[in-house]
Amino acid sequence: MQIDVKIGRIGSEVDTTVVIGLFKEERLEESDAAVMESALHRYLRDVLAVGDFKGEDQEVAVLYPLGQAPPGRIILVGLGSRDGFSLETARRASGIAVRRALKLGVSELSITVHGPSGPGGPGGPDGPGGPDGPVAPGFELRDCAQATVEGLLLGAYRYDDFKTGDEDRPRLESVNVVTPQRAQAYEIRDGIEDGQISAEGTTLARDLSNAPGNAMTPRKLAAAARKMAGETGLKCRVLTRKDIAKERMGALLAVNAGSEEPPRFIVLEHGEASDGTDTLVFIGKGITFDSGGISIKSSGGMEEMKHDMSGAAAVIGAMRSIALAKPSLHVVGLVPATENLPDGKALKPGDIITTRSGKTIEVINTDAEGRLVLADALEYAERYNPTAVIDLATLTGACVVALGYAATGMMGNDDGLQDRVRSAGETAGERVWPLPLWKDYHDQIKSHVADVKNTGGRWAGALTAGAFLAKFVERPWVHLDIAGTAYTDASKPYCPKGATGVGVRLLLQLVKDWKS
Ligand code: BES
Ligand code: MN
Ligand code: ZN
Repeated sequence: MQIDVKIGRIGSEVDTTVVIGLFKEERLEESDAAVMESALHRYLRDVLAVGDFKGEDQEVAVLYPLGQAPPGRIILVGLGSRDGFSLETARRASGIAVRRALKLGVSELSITVHGPSGPGGPGGPDGPGGPDGPVAPGFELRDCAQATVEGLLLGAYRYDDFKTGDEDRPRLESVNVVTPQRAQAYEIRDGIEDGQISAEGTTLARDLSNAPGNAMTPRKLAAAARKMAGETGLKCRVLTRKDIAKERMGALLAVNAGSEEPPRFIVLEHGEASDGTDTLVFIGKGITFDSGGISIKSSGGMEEMKHDMSGAAAVIGAMRSIALAKPSLHVVGLVPATENLPDGKALKPGDIITTRSGKTIEVINTDAEGRLVLADALEYAERYNPTAVIDLATLTGACVVALGYAATGMMGNDDGLQDRVRSAGETAGERVWPLPLWKDYHDQIKSHVADVKNTGGRWAGALTAGAFLAKFVERPWVHLDIAGTAYTDASKPYCPKGATGVGVRLLLQLVKDWKS
């Protein structure tokens, strides 16, 4: 999708499709004529006077002015109340508009930046073009442009790699982001680029996670990471089974024992360690299919476990975005990748395994495999002497019980880092919510025969998993349980059913906001 800034008033061109975001219960003002072609302005004022379109959040209507104004088609999207505006409003509005446009077979559209600056976007009465300069409190034009573009690109996303005969499905080819003010064009252009960078990582993550288990084995995941690294200039190293054994990653090997597919350990690196440069390590759980192993899962819904490498997908996607954004930081992405399958050689309940750190684990349940591979990866991360370590994992059903699909569960050992992650998630539209790691949960995973056991009984499953991981990190660390947020059953304004790519935008935002 080609996205350009265009200087002019929206709706000036005949037969185009234009997208206009409107706040709830706001009429068009005279001053909005500065951003909108005048016939369109008159036409919309009359339409709004009818009162059917309220401007509710996520409301959408398609209008056909039929000669009364130049556009052939107008897609109106509601932005909800002006006070309740957030970047997420802008993403959703764009997502809804683009999906409607695609349904109508539109291949080109014009849009203004959604923002709290009046109908027609910046240039409205309170907008950056207005008397007071900046967009309404808290929202910069560049950020609003980024969010508007993210909504477009992510809303247009489809996973159709395995759909045959779908080649001429309508695609949106070009979008003009229209502003009346030349002075704003630069800021908008930067915002567009930010949006493209974050959407690129997110769609990569969605593609990796949506791919079925037979198309996304550990080897294929590693190949995808390597290909991405080649395109973006990241360093990439892939450890094979032999290397993994040499690194003494006993837990990753143990989980892999029931699989015919060899494991991989993927290392991606942006920048390099040097004095005065912080090092962030991101770790993603890369179980390319989780059957549960010998503690096998019930068959209903098991197909969803192709998404059990969504943490890995987030890290690989984020590394792509980071490579494009080029922050002056040292960022390392680590992915322990394997299938979890039952077999004659598979890991069994009661087995005791030795991790890279030398700590031993009593395996109570082979379906608690994510924490095992993460234990080795967390320990591996220490070699980078990281300023912060963040892991992302579809780790527990219990986290979904606790928070549903509404937020990623966050645990950690450092309040400052948790604050940063929480704020990055808020900005990026990927909400996280803190959960405790009290001693009680550590007590639940004491083993009589080994240093720790891999399950803590029925209660507080997300937290005993977090407590388990905590034993393998020494550095400031945050664990994000994305079991409820990594994929969605119901299509969302800017995400169809399937993988969401959650984590990419959060990690990218964290890196952008990072100050030593
Ligand atoms: N991958 C699953 C967790 C999961 C469940 C993710 C549902 C997404 C949706 C994980 O490996 C797992 O099986 N966890 C077990 C842990 C239990 C055996 C302690 C779980 O949550 O049931
Ligand atoms: Mn499992
Ligand atoms: Zn799993």
